[in-house]
Amino acid sequence: MTRELNYQGYTEIQRGESDELLVRTSRGSACGEYLRRYWQPVALTNEVEDVPRVIKVLGEELVLFCDKAGRYGLVHKQCPHRRASMEFGVCEENGIRCCYHGWLFDVDGGIIEIPGQPQKIADLVKQQTRLGAYPVREYRGLIFAYLGPIGQIPEFPIYDTLEIEGQTLVPYRADYRCNWLQVLDAILDPIHTSFLHSRMSRAQFSEGMGEIGELLFYEREMSFLGANVRRVDEHIWVRVNELVLPNYTQAGAAFSADGTRAIYYGRTAFSRWVVPIDDENSTAFAWAIFGDRADPEEYNTPEGPELIEQGELMDRSYAQRQRFPGDAEAVEGMGRIADQKMEHLVPSDKGIIQYRKKLRKLCRNLESGNTPAHVTDSLPNPVATYGGDTVLKIDEDETDDGRRLIEIGEKVMHAQFDAEALIGLERVETVINTLKSIEAEFCR
Ligand code: FES
Ligand SMILES: [Fe+2]
Repeated sequence: MTRELNYQGYTEIQRGESDELLVRTSRGSACGEYLRRYWQPVALTNEVEDVPRVIKVLGEELVLFCDKAGRYGLVHKQCPHRRASMEFGVCEENGIRCCYHGWLFDVDGGIIEIPGQPQKIADLVKQQTRLGAYPVREYRGLIFAYLGPIGQIPEFPIYDTLEIEGQTLVPYRADYRCNWLQVLDAILDPIHTSFLHSRMSRAQFSEGMGEIGELLFYEREMSFLGANVRRVDEHIWVRVNELVLPNYTQAGAAFSADGTRAIYYGRTAFSRWVVPIDDENSTAFAWAIFGDRADPEEYNTPEGPELIEQGELMDRSYAQRQRFPGDAEAVEGMGRIADQKMEHLVPSDKGIIQYRKKLRKLCRNLESGNTPAHVTDSLPNPVATYGGDTVLKIDEDETDDGRRLIEIGEKVMHAQFDAEALIGLERVETVINTLKSIEAEFCR
């Protein structure tokens, strides 16, 4: 059918507005303060050398270093004496020494030594002054920092997918030239996998992702889940994308799952945080995960993490990016800060709508003085998560297979929800047994 052409370039207004409450993340902004209540990755361990390194996170320039005793420090950039930059400091046995007049600071910013001054004066300055510093910890090749008020420092959460025996975790970073929220949103948008990563240029992940299937969304106490439930011949494939508040994400395998073979409780192929650098730049700090329950070791190549992160390599020519766009092209193309108020959201954006609504509420709650919740408040550490793939051999329902996909998808999700309080192998065995019994129930 031909439709009548109707040009409205002049009347459709192009200039919109961003979601200011959520996109602003500097110190003092509602969302910036909220994000500062959680441990955030700020660097890769192998980026920290014998000299200090300037980093930027949540709009704040800081200096990261490792002293000669192996302790990490994250300090304000400017020295409290006469404002020299600590990036030119010297890492010593017990802290960092400013290059200008040699003041020595501990990893917590306390002054250890003020050389060349009368003892009395030095002691007084030590008591009254310090270098601003944040707690830091290293975990599996990533450096994490807590940038909030020290009295509210949370337990460091360990997610179950990071503690699976025999897996290889490869730390990586992916830098995006745009606001954090538009990078993060993609995880709660499972349908984009069928288009951006499959139908629009080439199959960037495994074959089979081009099939849309049914979409299921779940909002839980501390997390949001978006699942694709697809029919692949005699199998049903449930692939779960996940966001744990505030900015931690997981998904299923990028390459190993394609719906053609049974998988019982496969787990994520990447675990990542989308961290604001400032309002116009963000970084995904992450691990690509290889092993039996994630992507196979053969994908553990120098390019593997970038391909898992966004479907294509990050650093490519404009011609390549136009012909084979990945997530970076999709989200950076929105502009440095997207105009969310000009969007036209549809049912497949449900996960994004739920997440933004909750984030607004949590930011406002914090402004009213309520300390935000953490996963470890209600769940045992290691914390149960959901990103992953399950593929069950279940025949087609000839009358209404769409309904069957939804039914199986929900059963697969509830098999995991019901085992949430269990930890380690007990959870794995319980979930796998339930998945096998679902399969048996529907097997002719
Ligand atoms: S400016 Fe750092 S010691 Fe003087
Ligand atoms: Fe993507």
